[in-house]
Amino acid sequence: MNNGKFYIESYGCQMNFSDSEIIASVMKKNNFLLEKNHKKSDIIFINTCSIRKKAEERIEKRISQFNEIKKKNKKLIIGILGCMAKRMKFKLFKEKKTVDLIIGPDSYRNIPKLINNIKKGKKAYSVLLSKKETYEDINPVKINSNKINSFISIMRGCNNMCSFCIVPFTRGRERSRNPDSIIKEVKYLFIKGYREVTLLGQNVDSYNWKYKNKKIINFSKLISMIADINKDLRVRFSTSHPKDITSEVLYTIKKYENICNHIHLPVQSGNDRILKLMNRGYSRLWYLNKIKEIKTTLLNKCSISSDIITGFCSEKKKEHEDTLSLMDNVKYNFSYMFYYSERPGTLSQKKYKDDIPLEIKRKRLNEIIKKQLKHSLENNKKDINKIYKTLIEGYSKRSKKYLQGRNSENKIIIFPNKKEYKKGKYVDIKIKNCTSATLFGD
Ligand code: SAH
Ligand code: SF4
Ligand code: F3S
Repeated sequence: MNNGKFYIESYGCQMNFSDSEIIASVMKKNNFLLEKNHKKSDIIFINTCSIRKKAEERIEKRISQFNEIKKKNKKLIIGILGCMAKRMKFKLFKEKKTVDLIIGPDSYRNIPKLINNIKKGKKAYSVLLSKKETYEDINPVKINSNKINSFISIMRGCNNMCSFCIVPFTRGRERSRNPDSIIKEVKYLFIKGYREVTLLGQNVDSYNWKYKNKKIINFSKLISMIADINKDLRVRFSTSHPKDITSEVLYTIKKYENICNHIHLPVQSGNDRILKLMNRGYSRLWYLNKIKEIKTTLLNKCSISSDIITGFCSEKKKEHEDTLSLMDNVKYNFSYMFYYSERPGTLSQKKYKDDIPLEIKRKRLNEIIKKQLKHSLENNKKDINKIYKTLIEGYSKRSKKYLQGRNSENKIIIFPNKKEYKKGKYVDIKIKNCTSATLFGD
């Protein structure tokens, strides 16, 4: 029996991409077929992101494009999933008349049932958030995978309430996934040839599972259990929150060669007043002490990356300069950098005025990007002549004469292809050259 073909397009963070694999699994179990070409499919899903206004605008344009297709193919079903579905709810039906289905992040098990309703001519939506749903029993169906690296959600939701952030509203309360199901999934992937897993959560350091016999698995225990599966399996994780990352986690990274030397530790701002308005729960000094601790514990071998927001409500020039000086102090390997985008319903939208003019936001962002590029290049230059154990991930983007892999520090390394080099194997590469984004070696 075949219920039709579905196509799925994903936006936003890795957790959304990982959710799309859960959705694909739910659909397949119900006899729908995954289709890579939207023109050939009966159902189009867009798994959406609300993090910034621009993200939503891009998705809205895409929905309009699919609407055009629907004008010619009346039977086509269009479903909006993920964070925008949760944020806008049935308002989406009003704004986008051709949308049939609206499903929030905790309702993916309901999709097949709701599609049946749509086939009977009804529109359908399900956006309630759950305190328990982790989809732990669902074995994700990989989409566009290189069969070497995989993302695995270990928790959902977020309890942090950073004032700028929409995530707690779209994803709900924080909940951890049963470690037994995580281990089972990782073992399965390893047997299938995968050699790297990235454990995902909005705040992985608050991972916490309590068994019925009261035994507790915290994040540091979880990563050591996963690292113990096989020494050839690399373990990464994201995102760590500066207020929650523990010394225990740092010592676990140090103890295991296969837990990678990279920590994504978003700072958002380098100024104490702004950090307070953002409700981040740490000060500049606290953050810089954490960085010091990481650098000493991991003997300067650990790469550190960040997320930075510039132009937050009432940010003064001097306060922006504090972010620049913090960057000079840490010298991040890379950063994701944004200017503040006000999101409806967030604490900062309710309490503060989005009063920094766009041109100043842009100017500050450019200064931050420029500084980061400089630091990335300086850091990469220090790697020249070093030898790195590199996990081969496949051909380089430009040419089959070159392969691409990554070192433990999460840096991309390009090197000449040789017959004996196989995807999923480790090779020692000596770095010869670099740009701010890539290392080149042999
Ligand atoms: N849980 C992660 C981040 C999730 S969102 C953490 O706490 O670090 C990813 C990044 O998007 C954030 O770190 C932040 O830098 C950025 N971001 C979130 N909301 C934003 C907003 N309203 N405007 C601009 N950037 C935002
Ligand atoms: Fe958003 Fe803060 Fe939670 Fe990250 S920790 S998802 S920035 S509320
Ligand atoms: Fe976007 Fe939702 Fe992720 S808002 S960043 S898709 S949690």
